Amino acid sequence: MQASFDITNPQLAERGENRILWAAMEMPVLGSIRTRFEASKPLLGLRVGGCLHITTETANLARTLKAGGAEVALCASNPLSTQDDVAAALVQHDGIPVFARRGEDPDTYYAHIRAVLDTHPQITLDDGADLVSTLHRERPQQIDEITGGTEETTTGVIRLRAMARDGALGYPIVAVNDAMTKHLFDNRYGTGQSTLDGIIRATNILLAGKHFVVCGYGWCGRGIAMRAKGHGARVIVTEVQPLRALEAVMDGFQVMPLSEAAAIADFIVTATGDKHVVDKAHFEAMKDGCVLANSGHFNVEINIEALASLSRDKSRPRAHVEEYRLADGRRIRLLAEGRLVNLAAAEGHPAAVMDMSFANQALTVEHLWRQEEKLPPRVYPVPTHIDDLVASLKLETMGIGIDSLTEEQKAYLASWREGT
Ligand code: ADE
Repeated sequence: MQASFDITNPQLAERGENRILWAAMEMPVLGSIRTRFEASKPLLGLRVGGCLHITTETANLARTLKAGGAEVALCASNPLSTQDDVAAALVQHDGIPVFARRGEDPDTYYAHIRAVLDTHPQITLDDGADLVSTLHRERPQQIDEITGGTEETTTGVIRLRAMARDGALGYPIVAVNDAMTKHLFDNRYGTGQSTLDGIIRATNILLAGKHFVVCGYGWCGRGIAMRAKGHGARVIVTEVQPLRALEAVMDGFQVMPLSEAAAIADFIVTATGDKHVVDKAHFEAMKDGCVLANSGHFNVEINIEALASLSRDKSRPRAHVEEYRLADGRRIRLLAEGRLVNLAAAEGHPAAVMDMSFANQALTVEHLWRQEEKLPPRVYPVPTHIDDLVASLKLETMGIGIDSLTEEQKAYLASWREGT
């Protein structure tokens, strides 16, 4: 018989409920969508399957979709990011089937994805594209049932574009990550704050005066570097793209190859989306006590196997810290097993940025469900009117007014005759 949910402990529901309501206070844009959805039920008859980090913010998204009339089933998008109390509250208070246990092994992780697919979703919500890729690999017969999907994160969008290029993508997916009101805020300020939060909670080591290396200067790397600088760290950026490296230099950071930075680093944080960014030669160069953390979606950025092969033993001096002792006695401290440090050692991005990300998600689900004909299987941007609406609503809820163009100014911008 198919399990109706699989969570760690239903008794955590009360605690989860309190935290979900706490997050909701910081999510007024999503809240206003929920109020509209409750009244007009635009998602009636829709089955949504979500593979997302099971957090208080995701719970508010699930409640919004349910308020709109959708049936929602959820699994985790990372084995270490599930907040078990939130999973319990969603099951107990909302009757939402959740298949997620913090610390689940890879077999359970995929069994949970299959459990969500067993609910036959018509719209998929993904964060990293594991749901979409499992569906395409194992359940191709379900592709026709699907109207479309959304993708939350940079890594997922890269994978989906690769699927589309290979002609392997079977249904349309909207790249929520690429909305301005998503990545400019969630990736930059969300990752910036939550990554530092995870590192500080895990280590309680002072950042001021330390050499703090950020690998990758995309929107996440920018946020991490900015916030580490705010803590008084001496921030070094490593990059492979000349333009981004130049930007980091002009933003005031030192830029150098990781092979040089590794030797002076007190902290190294990866946010590149690529594999084995921190590798054997870097471990060999590191100082005693160097702290390694990853903020990219998958646990591939730090070559943990290579680190283990160089080590004579490993201990757990604190929660979320594994200390590898190299043959010559140096200690390298790996946080959160190389998984997303912000979600594994802290609580993920704060609700105020997830408010915009998940407002984009909710409005995009409505947009996809409204399509009269199924869109061709491609990766699509979030419609500009949704992105603009989210920005306007966010400003409004923050009590911030802005100017508008006069008719004369609009005419000036639309003409080419007036010049010097
Ligand atoms: N990704 C990063 N932070 C998150 C959060 N708080 N909830 C859901 N997904 C996230």
